[in-house]
Amino acid sequence: MLITEDNPLKEEKRDMSNILKFKEKKEITDINVRNKRVLVRVDFNVPMDENGNITDDRRIRYTLPTIYYLLNENCKVILMSHWGRPKGEVVPSLKMDKVAKRLRELLPLYRIYKVDDCIGKNVKTLSNKLNQQQILLLENTRFHSEENKNDEEFSRKLALHADVFINDAFATAHREHSSTCGVAKYIDEKAYGFLMAKELKFLASTIAEPQRPLTAIIGGVKLEDKLPAIRNMIGLADNILLGGGLTFTALLALGYDVGMSVKDTQKVETVKEFIKIANEVGTKIYIPNDVVVTEDLRRIVPVEVVSVKNIQKNQVGADIGPATIEEYKKVLSKSNSVLWTGPMGIFEIREFEKGTRELAQYLVEQNVTTFVGGGDSAAAFEKFDFEKDISFVSTGGGASLAVMKGELLPAIDYL
Ligand code: 3PG
Repeated sequence: MLITEDNPLKEEKRDMSNILKFKEKKEITDINVRNKRVLVRVDFNVPMDENGNITDDRRIRYTLPTIYYLLNENCKVILMSHWGRPKGEVVPSLKMDKVAKRLRELLPLYRIYKVDDCIGKNVKTLSNKLNQQQILLLENTRFHSEENKNDEEFSRKLALHADVFINDAFATAHREHSSTCGVAKYIDEKAYGFLMAKELKFLASTIAEPQRPLTAIIGGVKLEDKLPAIRNMIGLADNILLGGGLTFTALLALGYDVGMSVKDTQKVETVKEFIKIANEVGTKIYIPNDVVVTEDLRRIVPVEVVSVKNIQKNQVGADIGPATIEEYKKVLSKSNSVLWTGPMGIFEIREFEKGTRELAQYLVEQNVTTFVGGGDSAAAFEKFDFEKDISFVSTGGGASLAVMKGELLPAIDYL
């Protein structure tokens, strides 16, 4: 249901310099990399199952254009990435060996070495000895506590591996770490890679020059994380469709009883304030008018669709309901571009996947230009097998949210 007035959009003036910052920087094709030793920051922080097997290799596959380009330019390619959050210690399950294995499967014609550290004399000897068109994968940068502190000395040591630095790790571009930022200070020739370019160009054009009407679909659980993005979309997007756990705080702000559903009582006033601003600038905000509820998320019984007016004390909301799906589809049918972050419900559970699945399918069928950001939303598109049919599924969760909030990505700034 529409919770704001039906006013025409009075677009708020926004400083787009942060999101357009990348245009001031060099792209990989702007610099001469021929025959050089090139250090590439990639994001190989891939999900794995309980047996340590990689369950989604998109982040590895999507860096192949940059890697191929460098190999064709007769470069020596040194790849570095973090994996997980090992907090400055060597965690055996987070060693990059499995990533190296996957990389060898993807690039069978090339020699790929993997080393046990990312800095130090031995590693430097190996990176020096590398032949043209060979690849060296460094060990997890986060095995060193200095990495997350953007430590000068650690950054300098990483920089010793190469003459050129390419940052292709969009998904980690919001982190001011040594391997994403500091290292760039110590290498003169630097640029961003093809994946970074693709992500930023799509996102920037959707935000800075949107094909209107622009609709932002914002879901997920934590309202606190999404509030700055919601604020930034007010006065920019024509419509905002809210879903997922965060919607229950909005319902609370409007005086509904949300039972056992996830809520953030501290943010109720902020939601009211946002509704007020949205009324002034004419961004239409929609929240569900029906939801799928259950009494016990672990046993998932019983599952019921109720109006938001009738959520019982013992019920927890887990997805948007069918009437909401229809209403949201109507808004989407009149949209020319969509930014989507966060699922509409607990899509991992079959009983609660319908909201996310049906809206995703609708966007695919209607061929609406859609940018999907956020780890969970990307996982949903992958699960439903819509990824190949939608305009763009980002590899970055935190990074695309940072851009949607209007923040400057430090990794771009350092380039
Ligand atoms: C991500 O998965 O969002 C990136 O790889 C960054 O990881 P981080 O949240 O652990 O910094």
